[in-house]
Amino acid sequence: MDADQWDARYAATDLVWSVTPNQFVAAEVADLAPGSAVDLAAGEGRNAIWLASRGWDVVAVDYSSVGLAKGRRLAEDQQLPGSVSWVCADATTWESAPVHDLVVIAYLQLPADERRAAVRRGFAALRPGGTLLVVAHDTTNLAEGTGGPQDPRCS
Ligand SMILES: C[S@@+](CC[C@H](N)C(=O)[O-])C[C@H]1O[C@@H](n2cnc3c(N)ncnc32)[C@H](O)[C@@H]1O
Repeated sequence: MDADQWDARYAATDLVWSVTPNQFVAAEVADLAPGSAVDLAAGEGRNAIWLASRGWDVVAVDYSSVGLAKGRRLAEDQQLPGSVSWVCADATTWESAPVHDLVVIAYLQLPADERRAAVRRGFAALRPGGTLLVVAHDTTNLAEGTGGPQDPRCS
């Protein structure tokens, strides 16, 4: 799916994903001290907002402006001890200085060369010793899982 298709998907319904964070993101990040984070391919911001609720200052990057706008509205309704800045950009070309404590990439299901580019961009945004968390469907999801991409190039 390209950015226009994601925009259409996000525009078609109230929330595509949950208000609550992804369970694997929450479990892996729960014990980290809050700092500066990037949520690369943030969608409607469920993980970014949860991080900000725990005191993180988050840069939420996605190429769907519609998804990001929904996330911004959700965040505005809350008193968050941290912050979220919403950045509309392509994860495969977005650049950051190496200053962040945490980069989360959750379910950015792209063909291998694009996925590699995005993970490299995420890794490059980390300070030395920072944490990179990648959560994704693997190829077994096609036959044995639920949801997720149906294109084997993106698993
Ligand atoms: C399955 S959703 C996951 C959203 C979010 N990470 C979550 O877990 O709720 C995938 C997201 O990746 C975004 N995306 C896909 N390709 C992208 C790209 N090249 N650059 C930026 N965002 C991208 C889509 O717009 C969509 O919001």
